[in-house]
Amino acid sequence: MKHEIGWKEKAKRAAAKEAVKRVEDGFVLGLGSGSTAAYAIREIGKRIREEKLKVWAVPTSYQALLLATENHIPLTTLYEHPEIDLTIDGADQIDAELNMIKGGGGALTREKIVASASKKVIIVADETKLVKKLGVNNCPVPVEVLPFAVSYVAREIEKLGGKPVLRKSESKVGPTVTDNGNFVIDAYFGSIETPDKLRAELKSVSGVIENGLFIHIADIVILGGKEGIREIKKTSI
Ligand code: A5P
Repeated sequence: MKHEIGWKEKAKRAAAKEAVKRVEDGFVLGLGSGSTAAYAIREIGKRIREEKLKVWAVPTSYQALLLATENHIPLTTLYEHPEIDLTIDGADQIDAELNMIKGGGGALTREKIVASASKKVIIVADETKLVKKLGVNNCPVPVEVLPFAVSYVAREIEKLGGKPVLRKSESKVGPTVTDNGNFVIDAYFGSIETPDKLRAELKSVSGVIENGLFIHIADIVILGGKEGIREIKKTSI
């Protein structure tokens, strides 16, 4: 029996495909992480094969690096290209201001660096990622932490009103270790009223490498839904 893929996977793929249409010859690309960004990486590979598109890419994780390699996408680094033309990435939650929570896959630090270095950032997701307020539906803010500082940072997160949970590895005992050799604390704040303030507060805790609040970073969000794709801008919701 043929396996039918659900609407969400189709929606994610359609959004990714639309984003990849905006890739131009000669671009240096930032490759995001997660299952939706993976569709974009495969689509870039397809355009390279079929159209002889010439691009170079900076991956944001080992996942993106391995997938890019499989798809014969030429790789480069931020050393060589500190300015990136376009990054395509996913998100865990997106609000009306196009602010986001990212880091469900633990790749938040490199994702934020690569996005910050980009002239343009397109976020691709299925429409369930769009929320009224970041943090609703029990979505935590991932915080990448130097292992040495983990208990101290957990206490500081509590002082900020969050519930810190050390992320556990799924197929290895012990904590998740990021591509940078750090731990991740998932910080549950509930609905976040002032995301930029919380971003700055988390950032200022010693031992915090980065946090998953991405504020004023996305330029365009392409959402896939049951009825097709739609592009959102700050004022269109
Ligand atoms: C990776 O750390 C994340 O920021 C992902 O971009 C985010 O979790 C979205 O992933 P999916 O596209 O798999 O939902």
